[in-house]
Amino acid sequence: MPPNFESQSYWHDRYSTEAAFEWLIDSSTFMRILEPFLDRLDHSARLLHLGCGTSDLHNHLRDRGYSNVTNVDYERLALKRGEELEQSNFGDVNLKYVLADATQLQLGERYDLVIDKCTADAISCGAEDAVLRMAQSIRKHLTPGGCWISMSYSSSRFDIAELPFAAEAFATIPVPKERETDPDVFYWCYLLQP
Ligand SMILES: C[S@@+](CC[C@H](N)C(=O)[O-])C[C@H]1O[C@@H](n2cnc3c(N)ncnc32)[C@H](O)[C@@H]1O
Repeated sequence: MPPNFESQSYWHDRYSTEAAFEWLIDSSTFMRILEPFLDRLDHSARLLHLGCGTSDLHNHLRDRGYSNVTNVDYERLALKRGEELEQSNFGDVNLKYVLADATQLQLGERYDLVIDKCTADAISCGAEDAVLRMAQSIRKHLTPGGCWISMSYSSSRFDIAELPFAAEAFATIPVPKERETDPDVFYWCYLLQP
């Protein structure tokens, strides 16, 4: 049986021992993809990082000058790991860590840029309409002009009727091959605009 990526208990068990892990691509590579979007935002911009897990992306965003970064996960241990990673890199904790379900956000704030790396993928393993609910939830939390960037393993992640966004795959990242004869496989980075 494949792992239950949509299940909170799967992530709880995993983060009981896992202190740091990057899904799909490392944060430096992701930052290069995000750069044209970050370049348009000043350092006071509000960033929402959904399903932060044990990634160090938040440290890269803080390094890049952003202090208003809200990291969300529905597993408390992920938030603890995130705080620990920030503390060990900067010697203090300045960013926000919020326990919330990305399919039913009620954060009381709006964001200029929402980022997820492989979180929509994990959510897609659950109920059929779970990514749609995530999208509807994000839509309500965007500032005018705000957008969502999602890194995914799927070339059809946002082929969803009623999606409240125009989705465009603007970057592809070749998945490293184990053998030269392996087929070309890509990760997909989407820009989602209301
Ligand atoms: C595949 S991991 C990606 C972690 C990180 N973004 C990375 O790239 O390494 C998915 C993360 O999303 C979180 N997650 C899954 N479903 C969620 C939901 N409904 N609401 C909030 N977080 C969720 C999991 O706890 C896990 O940390």
